[in-house]
Amino acid sequence: MATVTYDKASRIYPGSERPAVNELNLEIGDVEFLVLVGPSGCGKSTSLRMLAGLEDVDRGRILINEKDVTHLPPKSRDIAMVFQNYALYPHMTVYENMAFALKLRKTPKSEIDRAVKEAAALLQLEEYLSRKPKALSGGQRQRVAMGRAIVRQPQVFLMDEPLSNLDAKLRVQTRSQIASLQAKLGVTTVYVTHDQVEAMTMGHRVAVMLDGVLQQVDTPRALYDTPGNVFVAGFMGSPAMNIKTVPLNETGAHFGALNIPLTREQVAAAREGGDGKVTVGFRPEAADVVGESADALPIVVDLVEDLGSDANVYGHADLPGGSERFVVRTERRNMPHMGETVYIRPQTTALHVFNAGSGIRI
Ligand SMILES: Nc1ncnc2c1ncn2[C@@H]1O[C@H](COP(=O)(O)OP(=O)(O)OP(=O)(O)O)[C@@H](O)[C@H]1O
Ligand SMILES: [Mg+2]
Repeated sequence: MATVTYDKASRIYPGSERPAVNELNLEIGDVEFLVLVGPSGCGKSTSLRMLAGLEDVDRGRILINEKDVTHLPPKSRDIAMVFQNYALYPHMTVYENMAFALKLRKTPKSEIDRAVKEAAALLQLEEYLSRKPKALSGGQRQRVAMGRAIVRQPQVFLMDEPLSNLDAKLRVQTRSQIASLQAKLGVTTVYVTHDQVEAMTMGHRVAVMLDGVLQQVDTPRALYDTPGNVFVAGFMGSPAMNIKTVPLNETGAHFGALNIPLTREQVAAAREGGDGKVTVGFRPEAADVVGESADALPIVVDLVEDLGSDANVYGHADLPGGSERFVVRTERRNMPHMGETVYIRPQTTALHVFNAGSGIRI
């Protein structure tokens, strides 16, 4: 049983004016797998280290199981952390690496043996227990680092980009292993990554950060379907959403040949601070490629990415304000050629509308 609460928690590094983490409010439920995601430098590791007790909390509080741990040292918080670089002891065997924390706690030998063997079985490391880390592959080392965390039976797992040293294929494999392991062990987990695909596939919920500020926290599906602001809309999803800021009129917006109908409420909300403009977005899969048509946007194809099952088509449209780039997904049999002109029409039910000033979803 463990819940985690960040209560307006801030970290301001000495000598810096801007908080690295700014009044973070976040409640993580028991047995939840929460992913913290965002671009480099947005404060993910700092947030995690504050929870671990490795970083001061300058304002606000952090609670584990409703107990204020803000000023407790790391060893009193009953958490286990897995880092990007594994930090295994090179002179110890896999067994000794996994046993180390328990040995420090003066756990009886028989109990250590049971815990290490159980974790080794879970992680398919049994045949490597007597090896040193240098004789292991990256993926195996990563599993030893996980094993070290598991044997301690902590209340909370903290993981900071634990897969970033692995090659792409192993990363995909290991990410599903970690997700199923977490479900099996039922330990509340906070997982940091800058990779939005990892976030979407692993997290029960995903917290998106930018410049030290939490932007949105929700299920992967909700973040994808109803991003709360322009940043989240552009960050989640690959290829990224097509997002354009265009002049607003009484009934909607115009995008070259495209007419984007907006409700009266949306127009009113867009007017507020929007400087006569509105930001609209549509995902690559939410546009149809149609025959030549007066109400579809002509796009000159710059690049076609054949994905096997379907294709990403990158192109540009010459609009009054200048050239604008777009990307749409097509079925493979409709794949256009480079240099060809295709006509695209976003599905009106799948449009995302944001205030052009604040970037907030309308
Ligand atoms: N020890 C430190 N002293 C001063 N500033 C720091 C320190 N550690 C981090 N920062 C700054 O705090 C901000 C947040 O850093 P943090 O390491 O939390 O980012 P991150 O989201 O984990 O990024 P990345 O994806 O690159 O790991 C950055 O602007 C960084 O430069
Ligand atoms: Mg980091």
